[in-house]
Amino acid sequence: MPCRKTTLAILLLGLAGAAQAELLLVYSVQRHGARNVLNKTATLKETDANGGPTLLPQGQRQAYDAGLSFRDRYLNSSACANGLSCLDASLVDSEPEYGVVGSADGIFNNFNTLIRSSSLDRAIMTARSFLDAVFPPINQPTDTTYLPDRQQVVPVYSQAADGDAIIRGYTACPAYDNRLLEWYASPEFQEKEMESQAFRDAVATQAATIDVKLNTSLTEWWNVFDGFNVYRTYNLGNEMPPVDNETFAEMQELAYWLETSKMRSNLTGNLLGGALLADLLEFLDKAVTVISANVLPNIYYKLVHLSGHYNTQLGVLGALEIDQDPAAADVTWFSKIPSLAALMAFELHGDASGDQSPQDLAVRLVMQDGPEADYVTIPLPCASPGDSAEVLAGAGSCSFDSFRALAAPKALNTLDDWCDACENDSWTACQLLAATRALNTSTDAAGTESGSSDDSGTGLSSGAVAGIAVGCALAGAVLAVLATTMYGRRARAKMAHDQLMSVHGSLPSTV
Ligand SMILES: *[C@@H]1O[C@H](CO)[C@@H](O)[C@H](O)[C@H]1NC(C)=O
Ligand SMILES: *[C@@H]1O[C@H](CO)[C@@H](O)[C@H](O)[C@H]1NC(C)=O
Ligand SMILES: *[C@@H]1O[C@H](CO)[C@@H](O)[C@H](O)[C@H]1NC(C)=O
Ligand SMILES: *[C@@H]1O[C@H](CO)[C@@H](O)[C@H](O)[C@H]1NC(C)=O
Ligand SMILES: *[C@@H]1O[C@H](CO)[C@@H](O)[C@H](O)[C@H]1NC(C)=O
Ligand SMILES: *[C@@H]1O[C@H](CO)[C@@H](O)[C@H](O)[C@H]1NC(C)=O
Ligand SMILES: *[C@@H]1O[C@H](CO)[C@@H](O)[C@H](O)[C@H]1NC(C)=O
Repeated sequence: MPCRKTTLAILLLGLAGAAQAELLLVYSVQRHGARNVLNKTATLKETDANGGPTLLPQGQRQAYDAGLSFRDRYLNSSACANGLSCLDASLVDSEPEYGVVGSADGIFNNFNTLIRSSSLDRAIMTARSFLDAVFPPINQPTDTTYLPDRQQVVPVYSQAADGDAIIRGYTACPAYDNRLLEWYASPEFQEKEMESQAFRDAVATQAATIDVKLNTSLTEWWNVFDGFNVYRTYNLGNEMPPVDNETFAEMQELAYWLETSKMRSNLTGNLLGGALLADLLEFLDKAVTVISANVLPNIYYKLVHLSGHYNTQLGVLGALEIDQDPAAADVTWFSKIPSLAALMAFELHGDASGDQSPQDLAVRLVMQDGPEADYVTIPLPCASPGDSAEVLAGAGSCSFDSFRALAAPKALNTLDDWCDACENDSWTACQLLAATRALNTSTDAAGTESGSSDDSGTGLSSGAVAGIAVGCALAGAVLAVLATTMYGRRARAKMAHDQLMSVHGSLPSTV
């Protein structure tokens, strides 16, 4: 009866895991739901007005539905009792409530929950719709408290695109654009161009029959596909000619190939996901420090959610080089654009009955390809078959230590690091960095000339040094502003050009 024995073993393993497993933190990244037509350049820039195309009513529902399954998976105490891990075991019989610290109901609050969105309409609305399901109506309104519809209000933080390296960095990274441009000139891309030429021409011809002029070059194919997709599905955007399902399927296949190829790790490196990885590690590190010290109350961010874009999601997979791992060959996102409202989540697991030291905690990565889909594991390259992390959190999980060892070298820890890697010289942070460096260089030069004065024994008091430091910082800021206004567009364009050329020079010609 080998079959029964196996079943028993799995059951025992399951019980052992379920009895002790504890979900300590979830860091999730979501794609927005259905939106109006989105026109993008070949290097992922958007040409739309501020805020971008809005989330459609259908998109709100998709995000809400994704929130329902998120709640069931991570916050529903009955579901947790059924053997799944629950984010907060103290959720006894209540539904998840976002409350006031110190109040009996304040289980989730601004000390353990952080929701961030890109500054675009579709992402902010997705976060709002998602949260309406994650934190369902529950507050008891009175004449003077809470909203009359009992809706919970959960804040969504956002920041301007200038400086948002975590969610939107992929739209502003010239070093990555450069790799893309090289790839567009590669034999692989040109082969695809030839192979798809007749099909693309046929689509252009068909569009011309209703006087729609389409640029059907392969680099522009996203826009062709998106225009057809949104018009067919939601009857919005520019009118497109009717195409049969087979033709549409071929259009979609080509768009999938194009968009997922752009996100391969050998093109992205850590440029698109490195800032997010640094952010993730920061939250994991803080959690692990608090948990392993085991000082009560254990206050740390345990529900961290980003409302973003599929390039945000694929950029992280690229940074972790998951596509290079044969164990991850079946992950659909390497050949298919993540579905609307798709979600991925890094989970930190512990063993409540055991040691909670870093090597005994486990990290798992899961994805849900749209609200109707099941959550599935994306195996991490640091997984080690059969080790205690896999026993705790399932196949494809890593110990926290080995996840850290995988991710830390790929993290872009500061905006300065991001500026250096991406070579964007128009972000405010990058201009400040350049100006500070210029100031440092001239200060260093001055210091070298009068070098002996340092040894004269007069020395500067620490107060004077601090004063100088503040002065330098101020001068740096002034310089940054001056740099912007004085050098003007032409000089910056030249700098950008020079930087592009130097990146070109250092790139392997194959990417
Ligand atoms: C999309 O953007 C391109 C420039 O990248 C522009 O030429 C074209 O007219 C735009 N299409 C629509 C439908 O806005
Ligand atoms: C929690 O899960 C139980 C069992 O799966 C289900 O019946 C219930 O509706 C869920 N509650 C919420 C608020 O999602
Ligand atoms: C740098 O970032 C800014 C702000 O997001 C963006 O407008 C600009 O296009 C980026 N520069 C390049 C060369 O990508
Ligand atoms: C179509 O787009 C490509 C790539 O952006 C561009 O080089 C080409 O000039 C465009 N063709 C037309 C007819 O606008
Ligand atoms: C085309 O696809 C739509 C929806 O995907 C479906 O409702 C319709 O029946 C299909 N048409 C044909 C001819 O297969
Ligand atoms: C400027 O110099 C100081 C002191 O050497 C150094 O700590 C700092 O990192 C430098 N800043 C930049 C942007 O190079
Ligand atoms: C990049 O990776 C893909 C598969 O992930 C592969 O097909 C392609 O040849 C690689 N390109 C280079 C230049 O290595």
